[in-house]
Formats: sequence, structure tokens, C-alpha cells
Amino acid sequence: MARIAHLSDLHFGEASGSLIESLAADVIMAAPDAVAVSGDLTRRATRDEFTRAFAFLETLGAPLLVVPGNHDIPRGDLLGRFLHPKRRWLLSQPEGAAYELSIGGTRLVGLDTVSRAQWHLDWAAGAIPFPRRKRLAEQLGGANIVVVCHHPLQHGPWAAARRTPREAGATIELLRENNVRAVLCGHLHRAEMTQLGPEGPLQIIAPSAFSPRGTGAPNGWNLVDTAGATIQVEAREFIADRWHGRPLSLA
Ligand SMILES: [Fe+2]
Ligand SMILES: [Fe+2]
Repeated sequence: MARIAHLSDLHFGEASGSLIESLAADVIMAAPDAVAVSGDLTRRATRDEFTRAFAFLETLGAPLLVVPGNHDIPRGDLLGRFLHPKRRWLLSQPEGAAYELSIGGTRLVGLDTVSRAQWHLDWAAGAIPFPRRKRLAEQLGGANIVVVCHHPLQHGPWAAARRTPREAGATIELLRENNVRAVLCGHLHRAEMTQLGPEGPLQIIAPSAFSPRGTGAPNGWNLVDTAGATIQVEAREFIADRWHGRPLSLA
């Protein structure tokens, strides 16, 4: 069994102090076996924002798997974006942060979906080109695998106007062929659970932990329990200055 605290879209740089402390206490109280973070740690990918984000994650006291989001590579600094997009991330990342983690019979595998540029103007939309899918395929042997990435691979009707990452369809196929149980992601700033086609993995989206921007959904995080045949998810939501838990069911 693995109990995973799934956090996303922390957006340090726009996060408020009291909510940060309160969320940390809520996660620690749940005593997760691991913390999976599906990207957008920062607002503008500055060293200071990364330092604060990773310092916060280290206070949670559990093994960490962290993948980047579209906000975690430089935006205005085009030279940095193209030549060294992850430089600030790597300089700030703690030694213990992993891209693959085995916890209580569940294997968490990180997938980078961030893209430096696209042929269209929506560079935030992400991409999973062939080399990334090839590397992912090499990591997917065995049972009970949960993939962690920033971008959802499929959008519900409420987000249909937003692009999914390039090659999302081929990635879903790869996950299905390898019996991946679930994909933990973020980016849309709203909690949701769907299934990626019949017999496909669950797609579990965490809301933004701290950002006030987005859909108007409450800030929070997801507690994901992989014991048993069905994955159980509790959405932890911060409403009217206190934490509420509700079971997240399939949309
Ligand atoms: Fe975000
Ligand atoms: Fe994002």
C-alpha cells in the first residue's frame, strides 16, 4: 500500500504565508509515504522561488518526486529558456528529490511534459516527443505504476478550449499498453478524476496548492491511496479558512 500526497501548481512567488503553513500541517498530519509534485513550483522560475518551493517540500518529511511545469523554465529570458531551461531548477533541487520512487509496492515514475517552444503560440501547452516516450517506455515494466507529469493528457469538456500536450494521444496509448494505473497531474488548477479511455489509467488532477489564479476552485491537494484494486482519492480543499476532505469520484 502507498499513501501519496499529491501536490501541484505551488506557484511560489504568488503563494500566501498562512496557507503555506496550513497546507504543510495538513499534509504532515496525513503521514504520506511519499510526496508527488506535478510541477509549476514557481511563478517565474527565479532562483528565490525555487529555493522557497524546495525548502517547503523538504519540511513535509516524506520522500519526494518532483517534475517541472511550464512555469518552471524561464519565460522572458529566451536565451536561458532555449540553452539551459532547467538550470535554476537543478541548482535549487535538494539531493533527495527523485524522478522515480518505489513505495509500498507502488512505483512512481516522473515524466517531463514541459516544452521550450511550439509551432503555435501556446508554449505553455507542453509536449511529449518521441525521446521522452522512449525513456518512459523503458521505465514502465512491472505492475502498480503511477506516472507523475504536469500536463493532463486529456481534458474534460470544461477545459476543451485548452490544448493538451503534443503527442498526448501516443502517450496515453503507451500507458495503456503498459497497464499504468494512474497519472497524477496538475496545470488546470482544479481537482478532477477521469479515466483515459476504457481499460485506461486514471487521470487524477490536483488543484493548485496556493495560487489564487485559475478556475475559482479551492486551493488544496489530493491524498491518493493505491492499496487494493481501486485507487482511492481524497480531495483536501481549503475552504473558509479550514481543511475539508471529500472523496474524489470519476467525472
Ligand atoms: Fe499552474
Ligand atoms: Fe502549468
